[in-house]
Amino acid sequence: MTYFPAYPVTRPRRLRRTPEMRELFQETRLSVSDLIYPIFVRNGSENKPVTSMPGQMQIGLNNLEDEIQRIEQLGIKAIMLFGIPEKKDPQGSDNLSPDGIAPRAIQLIKKTCPSLTLISDLCLCDYSDHGHCCIVDPVNKHFLNEPTLNYLSKAAVIHAQAGSDMIAPSGMIDGMVSAIRAGLNEAQFVYTPIMSYSAKYASALYAPFREAAECAPQFGNRKNYQMDPANSREALKEMALDVAEGADILIVKPATFYLDIIQSAKANFEVPIAAYQVSGEYAMLQAAAQNNWIDLKACVTESFFAMKRAGANNIITYFAKDFAEWNS
Ligand code: PBG
Ligand code: ZN
Repeated sequence: MTYFPAYPVTRPRRLRRTPEMRELFQETRLSVSDLIYPIFVRNGSENKPVTSMPGQMQIGLNNLEDEIQRIEQLGIKAIMLFGIPEKKDPQGSDNLSPDGIAPRAIQLIKKTCPSLTLISDLCLCDYSDHGHCCIVDPVNKHFLNEPTLNYLSKAAVIHAQAGSDMIAPSGMIDGMVSAIRAGLNEAQFVYTPIMSYSAKYASALYAPFREAAECAPQFGNRKNYQMDPANSREALKEMALDVAEGADILIVKPATFYLDIIQSAKANFEVPIAAYQVSGEYAMLQAAAQNNWIDLKACVTESFFAMKRAGANNIITYFAKDFAEWNS
């Protein structure tokens, strides 16, 4: 029994003695089934790497089938789709046509892997030439709420008709959840859930995503419709509004810098909470790991524990494939 020190040890240390005991008393567990993998799809046969997100790419529609099969083989159960249209215009029309990039990708994904849960993002900024998440008045550049709601509810129906399993509006537009719910219900898609980006901050951590989705705002910024990083109480209001409007799942975004928001989301609402580990979080971890300054697997795993400890049910993460490989 020389293993034990002579002095009395505390209970937490007794329970940490062996790897087996540590596992036995683990309060949170991670599984590939917790994860949602975001993908970017473009037209054509070319896969375009995203420079600021090493390992991620815009997938050419012609290569999508292979990529989706790989994702499913890794054990990933859910993906989130962002479409990158060939042509952007002020009205974001590509997303209102059944021949648009998103509906075509949705059809192909559901044909290839019917049981992979497909969540589709709807936001106008991916489809509009001005890069804002709402319809913009061409003259005075005001953000127009009603036309945006109309757009979102139409786009949601287009996505659902193409086969999307779940709709994820990321624009932080007032009334977006009820407008989308009404549109879906009217078109008989009463079973299509809405995963709402309810607490989405105007974060500098979205920069790599804007390269990936080619959606940087062409004037101004998003600080009017996205939340102020200095504030936590307005997140409660935003989430309460979305729950009242019929949101089925709430997203908190970004994740690691906003663990307090995840915790209060979990404490205040009964719906599942998803944490979005955004592009900038991915880029920081990748950059440090590429310099051999941190151990990527250990740090990513630790970041997932942080989100789950805070109360996240699901994690939307660009590390989903890596995590699946590390744990296979
Ligand atoms: C678009 C959208 C953004 C992200 C998801 N949907 C960027 C933004 O709001 O500017 C960010 C995702 C990420 O950084 O990984 N509304
Ligand atoms: Zn947007």
